[in-house]
Amino acid sequence: MSGACKIEVSGVTKCFKRNGKKVLALRETSLSVEEGRFATIIGPSGCGKSTLFNIIAGLLPPSTGEVSADGQSIVGKAGYVGYMLQKDMLLPWRTILDNIILGLEVRGVPRAQSVERALPLMEKYGLKGFDKHYPSELSGGMRQRAALLRTLLYDRDIILLDEPFGALDAQTRLAMQNWLLQIWRDFKKTVLFVTHDIDEAIYLSDDIYVFSSRPGRIKCKINVNLERPRKTEDMTSGKFMELKHHLLDLLVVKRAEEAEQA
Ligand SMILES: Nc1ncnc2c1ncn2[C@@H]1O[C@H](COP(=O)(O)OP(=O)(O)O)[C@@H](O)[C@H]1O
Ligand SMILES: [Mg+2]
Repeated sequence: MSGACKIEVSGVTKCFKRNGKKVLALRETSLSVEEGRFATIIGPSGCGKSTLFNIIAGLLPPSTGEVSADGQSIVGKAGYVGYMLQKDMLLPWRTILDNIILGLEVRGVPRAQSVERALPLMEKYGLKGFDKHYPSELSGGMRQRAALLRTLLYDRDIILLDEPFGALDAQTRLAMQNWLLQIWRDFKKTVLFVTHDIDEAIYLSDDIYVFSSRPGRIKCKINVNLERPRKTEDMTSGKFMELKHHLLDLLVVKRAEEAEQA
C-alpha cells in the first residue's frame, strides 16, 4: 500500500427533481480513499449511498462538486471504476461463464482469451463446474460470487460494491465476507463498499464513513485498527465490541436524539 490518494470525492451534492419539486438526496460530501484500502460507507436506507456510488461511477452527474481518481476528474466518465450495483444484475439468459466475461466482451477481448482468464478464477473462488449453469440455478451466495468476479474481471483498480451481501442469510453472509477479504488480498484493489450492517462494516474495513439520515452527509470517519488477516472469531473480541458500541451510538442512539430534537 503506497498511501497515495486513489479516489477523492470533494464537495459533492445531489439534488433530484421529482414532480417539479427539488429533492436534496445528498448533502455536501467529501471523502478520500488511499490506494489499496478498504473503505466502507454505512448509513440508513435512503441517505444517498447508492446515489453517491452512481456519481462516482460516472453514471449520474453531481449537482455540485468533483470526483477524481488517480489525480484526474472522472465526473461523467463511466467505466473508470468497477461497479457492482445493489442488485446482482446477472443476465438470466446467459450462462454464469458468459455473465462473468461480460465486461471483457464489452471491451472487445476475444472470447477464447476471456474464457481462459475466467475459468481459473471460477475454480479458485468457489464456482468450479458452474460455468454452463444459468443464474436461476445458483444459490444467492453463488450469484453474488459470479457478480463479483464479473466486476473484478473488468480490470479496474477501484471497485465499488453496493450492499453486495444485503439479501443473503447470516451464515452465507459470513462466508462471503471471508471470501471477499481473500479476493481483496489477492487482487490488491482499492474498495469502496456500502452496507447498513455494523458488524460487516467493522469486519471488512480499514475506514468507515458514517452517514446521517436523508439527505445524507458524512457524520464522521472511523479508522478500524484491527489486525489483518481477520477471522470470524474476531467479531467477538473486545476491540471489535468497542468499535461496535461506538458505531451503534452514532447510528442509532444519536439518531434517536436528533429525531427528538427536530
Ligand atoms: N433518480 C432519482 N430521482 C429522484 N429521486 C431519487 C433518484 N434516485 C434516488 N432518489 C432519492 O434519493 C434518496 C437517496 O436514495 P439512494 O441513494 O438510493 O439511498 P440509499 O442507497 O442510501 O438507500 C432517496 O430519497 C431516493 O428516493
Ligand atoms: Mg442503496
